[in-house]
Amino acid sequence: MSEIKFPKDFIFGTATASYQIEGAISSDGKGPSIWDEFVTRKGKIKNNDTGEIACDHYNKMEDDVRLMSELSYQAYRFSISWPRIFPNGKKILNQKGLDFYDRLVDILLRKKIKPFVTLYHWDLPLALEKEGGWLNRDTAKYFGDYSNVVIEKLGDRVSNWITLNEPWIVMACGYLLKVFPPAFFKPFSSMKVAHNLLLAHGFGVKAVRENSKNSLVGITNAMMPVYSNRMDKYDKSTKRADAIVNKLWLDPILKGEYPEEIRNEVYRQNKKNIQDDDLKFISQKVDFVGINNYSRLIVKPVPFPFYNFRPVNPKHPGVEFTSMGWEVFPQGIYELLKRIKIEYGNIPCYITENGVAYNENLEQGKLEDHNRIKFLKDYLFQVHKAIVEGVNIKGYFVWTFMDNFEWAEGFAKTFGLVHIDRNTLKRTPKLSAEWYSNLCKKNSFNYLDE
Ligand code: FCB
Repeated sequence: MSEIKFPKDFIFGTATASYQIEGAISSDGKGPSIWDEFVTRKGKIKNNDTGEIACDHYNKMEDDVRLMSELSYQAYRFSISWPRIFPNGKKILNQKGLDFYDRLVDILLRKKIKPFVTLYHWDLPLALEKEGGWLNRDTAKYFGDYSNVVIEKLGDRVSNWITLNEPWIVMACGYLLKVFPPAFFKPFSSMKVAHNLLLAHGFGVKAVRENSKNSLVGITNAMMPVYSNRMDKYDKSTKRADAIVNKLWLDPILKGEYPEEIRNEVYRQNKKNIQDDDLKFISQKVDFVGINNYSRLIVKPVPFPFYNFRPVNPKHPGVEFTSMGWEVFPQGIYELLKRIKIEYGNIPCYITENGVAYNENLEQGKLEDHNRIKFLKDYLFQVHKAIVEGVNIKGYFVWTFMDNFEWAEGFAKTFGLVHIDRNTLKRTPKLSAEWYSNLCKKNSFNYLDE
């Protein structure tokens, strides 16, 4: 009864992102990204940490893949650093950058680990930011040019492509909250940013179709069920929040239209930006959607134009938080998956990220993170429930393989299955890494014991 078994072809992997692990920020001809610049701004990153070294994965890649393979992980989702391929964002190719990912793919395949490649996980070439970044429609086109080159090179071996990682976070953290680059406050241009990101997604899909006939392509979104703090009411601002956080990044792609709740504002902010066939382009067929889920969002109404909601912290008895301050809310992942089935035609989907940061330390060379194992079990239990109820979910990726540079939180927050010593960069699998290894081997886990 307590054995939770997954379908035969279900895939279990881990996920990372280039800037968070690679380091080697100017090795072999790499150009600067917006993150390379942002981390030098005073007060933006906890403890003034930077990704200059990160996990030094650029130099330790073979060892990392070997460890992944020893742990029997079946798939690996990683992202490509655009400025490694095009140091200025466009035109002049940096062959050595491309070669790095070429080698990575070969090594993964040799170890029978399935690569899932994200084309954009936030490290925009700095040169393109200087031309307007995501406020500039041309950025989407340059993303297409870059994607063409990458897919032409790797598309004979990589068969799963993700265009963008979490465009909602790019927009919210970069253009509203000022916690990620470019750190603007532009609520009344944010829908332009959204449109240009969705357009970039369209260029990514086109690049996959044109360069790798047998590949599958999708987008990865940050999704959270949205609740009202009045609990009993699904009021207007909650609906608005849901439209902006969730629907904005799926409706244009899967339904060819902007969500009704925000449509007028999208068009108002994009007067000179949206062109006639854009929605058709954005809604080219995709093969799957990726969902990143950690928690839920509870909102209260505020009298601000358009963004008429603010997050509030849950206070109910027994509420648990991670070291990020995020509420542990396993049922949310089930709610999202059901929604994909009911509202989006049960398109194949993956959990492309789920995981947790807790405060923890190595003790006598070991890290027994029972709390992380419990977290993963509770979320996976809900994923399994969705499968049983017919949701077309194909796989699950833990965020993340190893402790890494957690954006504005620097190295203070550790999400890894593998611990990294910040001084020596030594990799030590945590207990959760072994637990996940067993899950990969058996395709099942026992809910009651470890
Ligand atoms: C997601 C990001 C990922 C990581 C996790 C904790 O929003 O995609 O890079 O930072 O959160």
